Amino acid sequence: MKRTPSIPLPPIENPEQQMRSELQRLAEQQNRLFAQLQAGEDHFKQLARSVWRVQEDERRRLARELHDGIGQHLTALRHRLQGMEQDQAECQDHRLQQSLSLCETAIEEVRALSRLLRPQILDDLGLEAALQWLARHSAEDSGCSIQVDVGRLDQELDGDLKTLLFRVVQEALANALKHAHADNVVVRISQRGSSLQLLIVDDGAGCDVEAALARSSQSESTGLASMRERVRLFGGQLALASQPGEGLQLRVRLPLVSETESR
Ligand SMILES: Nc1ncnc2c1ncn2[C@@H]1O[C@H](COP(=O)(O)OP(=O)(O)OP(=O)(O)O)[C@@H](O)[C@H]1O
Ligand SMILES: [Mg+2]
Repeated sequence: MKRTPSIPLPPIENPEQQMRSELQRLAEQQNRLFAQLQAGEDHFKQLARSVWRVQEDERRRLARELHDGIGQHLTALRHRLQGMEQDQAECQDHRLQQSLSLCETAIEEVRALSRLLRPQILDDLGLEAALQWLARHSAEDSGCSIQVDVGRLDQELDGDLKTLLFRVVQEALANALKHAHADNVVVRISQRGSSLQLLIVDDGAGCDVEAALARSSQSESTGLASMRERVRLFGGQLALASQPGEGLQLRVRLPLVSETESR
């Protein structure tokens, strides 16, 4: 009789062993899920703290503007008006002119502050008009040439997404003018399949990106870090590329969502 060659078989576990290894597998799976949950919660807390920090910074900036700008003008105005009571008639006209000029300055500063907080044009005429307006204003003040190019988009952008894009461009332009002293900036928004791409390129002084991001995350400044966190909140990504002396490129990719999906 021919003998069949013996094939090594896996050891047969008894039911108790099987149960034990199944329990161990389940325990490991539970630990993994728990760790993922914990990481998600930590990330969420970190984001919430960043949003809070950004809000506080904005409040601080607003408080400073109100105190140093409009508050000072109103104090000076009160002083002039109080002085008028004791003035001779010929001095009164001069004081009146000074007071009117202080009022004009204060009104102009209130307008500028209100535009900074929420430009009406974004709600009334939409993103492209608001970006063109922002570019015109920034260019007027700095002499820099700023080109805005918004490509054809398949759908109307969600309101929050428009605000986010506006804020990112606002901060990037402020940086390009303040730090880089750029002569030219190009802002381009285009659709790539189901995502939106924002590209901002300046020809200014450039910087060491790692060092700039590190500064921005350590609360010395908040612009770049808050931009990046806001973009993350919308499920997007922000990338920076720069070399000292070679300008800076900021690229944002965001998933497109319709107004109804975002609610
Ligand atoms: N376009 C740019 N060109 C060159 N350097 C830049 C540019 N944008 C940012 N930086 C560098 O990155 C650093 C961090 O920028 P960030 O916007 O976070 O802060 P900030 O502009 O200094 O302050 P804040 O925005 O909070 O008022 C800046 O100090 C600057 O050195
Ligand atoms: Mg900044």
